[in-house]
Amino acid sequence: MWYPILGLRRSFPKLFLKNFMESYINLSDLKYKSTLAQETYNLGKEITKQLKVGDVVLFYGDLGAGKTEIIKGICAGLGYKGRVLSPTFQLVREYGIKSRSNSNSKPTSSSKSKSISKIYHIDLYRLEGGADLESLGLEDYFEDKKAVTLIEWADRLRNEDLPKKHKEVKIEIVSEEERMIYFNQ
Ligand SMILES: Nc1ncnc2c1ncn2[C@@H]1O[C@H](COP(=O)(O)OP(=O)(O)OP(=O)(O)O)[C@@H](O)[C@H]1O
Ligand SMILES: [Mg+2]
Repeated sequence: MWYPILGLRRSFPKLFLKNFMESYINLSDLKYKSTLAQETYNLGKEITKQLKVGDVVLFYGDLGAGKTEIIKGICAGLGYKGRVLSPTFQLVREYGIKSRSNSNSKPTSSSKSKSISKIYHIDLYRLEGGADLESLGLEDYFEDKKAVTLIEWADRLRNEDLPKKHKEVKIEIVSEEERMIYFNQ
């Protein structure tokens, strides 16, 4: 009996420090292990609480990592009820969010995100280069103060194409169903 207690006493300071460090890091950043597509979707809904109008969120991760999956959750969390498709051939899709003040359904998002009335879902996987990017006119989306802009394959952009303030979601594929997801803002 004595040994386990001693073991616990020895590991306590380390455990305390680890928990302290993690909660410190998590004040603005989030690290999450997902083992199901549904969990990733739910995390998207959760992230909605951190979003406000004008926000730009960049998504990074390999093919099939779950970028669209988490975006589906964000869109649902913001009150969008339609289908969310990867805009691969279209580059940009626009989703309008109907005012929730008249709706009978319970709002799913926080007060911060209530004034968001539009979502721009951008997928840059097939971006052909500078000319393509210019014709896309990203700035117009970034400047829309009623919208949030969500960009898949944001690694196709250069730093100067991005607004200084943006949030990032990085998804790493660990195994067929496991993902490590990092959110920073
Ligand atoms: N834990 C998980 N989280 C997210 N998706 C998962 C998970 N486990 C399995 N999946 C599956 O991985 C796929 C993720 O597809 P999704 O379209 O979201 O990826 P993506 O990153 O947008 O890819 P692309 O670069 O092609 O747009 C889905 O088929 C989903 O069911
Ligand atoms: Mg996608």
